[in-house]
Amino acid sequence: YEGITGELITRSRIAGLITKRKRDAHKGTFGRVFFLAGSAGYTGAAFLACQGALKSGSGLVTLGVPESINPVMEVKLTEAMTLPLPETDGGILSRDAVPAVLEQVRASRALGVGPGLSTRKDVPEVVKTLVREADIPLVLDADALNSLADDPDILKSRKAPAVITPHPGEMARLLGTTTAEVQEDRIGAAQEAAGKWGVIAVLKGANTVVGHPDGRFFINTTGNPGMATGGTGDVLTGIITSFLGQGMSSLDAALAGVYIHGLAGDRASLQKGERGLTAGDIVETLPLVISEFE
Ligand code: APR
Ligand code: MG
Repeated sequence: YEGITGELITRSRIAGLITKRKRDAHKGTFGRVFFLAGSAGYTGAAFLACQGALKSGSGLVTLGVPESINPVMEVKLTEAMTLPLPETDGGILSRDAVPAVLEQVRASRALGVGPGLSTRKDVPEVVKTLVREADIPLVLDADALNSLADDPDILKSRKAPAVITPHPGEMARLLGTTTAEVQEDRIGAAQEAAGKWGVIAVLKGANTVVGHPDGRFFINTTGNPGMATGGTGDVLTGIITSFLGQGMSSLDAALAGVYIHGLAGDRASLQKGERGLTAGDIVETLPLVISEFE
């Protein structure tokens, strides 16, 4: 099998990546993370990403949101801080937000962009500015990826690591192909995206595939069809961003993120069943699942 560069993402592959907290740790030890997520009608996506990070060990989480939804986020989120940002068109992030966003980026160790962001008005321009100028590890999901679909090559210009987390439809838009073609060769699609843009490419869905720019690929072994429900991908964005903020490499954060996310989904489905499983159930299951590895 010479030349085959694939590996399964198993418990033993992940075990060394999550370590016990030092006795003298303080909240700054675990890296401030920043999310840019949410828009009018999509407050839940931003909430789930932040909760995914908090429940994965982030010490400090800040959420930047269009200012008119800030009061909602303040109520929904107890432990995360919020940064109300200039908006247009009733709850859509404005380009005028860029200076404040870049200032928050400079104070953060990792950045997660996309859940519930919308692709309307100035959003694609803001996302592209961040891809170029945010020099910290970055996770791009959902509408951040849709915002890049007309020019994904700008990912190549980044110096700091990036992880992209498309579902098959988002991957098809990025690669300029169809969802069916992506699904026909999931490994090839993840490898192509990773190689082309120099990113860690996480192609979601049953047996998530993680591609590395050097051609290696990894196939996840956790998760279940109960996870095919709104918001579970937003939780994954939160977990991977959290692990980046805690100092993992982009590959390790992606591998540990998809494995733990799926395992939390498996544990939650034992308690709740697959059919009624929600993204919030995965969030609630995360802490104990992660503690098994410490
Ligand atoms: N087996 C295992 N895992 C699964 C399965 C399955 N059969 N189905 C889904 N999952 C996992 C995926 O691997 C992924 O981690 O659930 C998660 C689903 O993520 P998304 O597809 O991003 O779904 P969601 O978060 O609900 O996104 C909702 O955001 O990305 C946009 O366009 C998208 O409008 C949609 C919205
Ligand atoms: Mg999604």
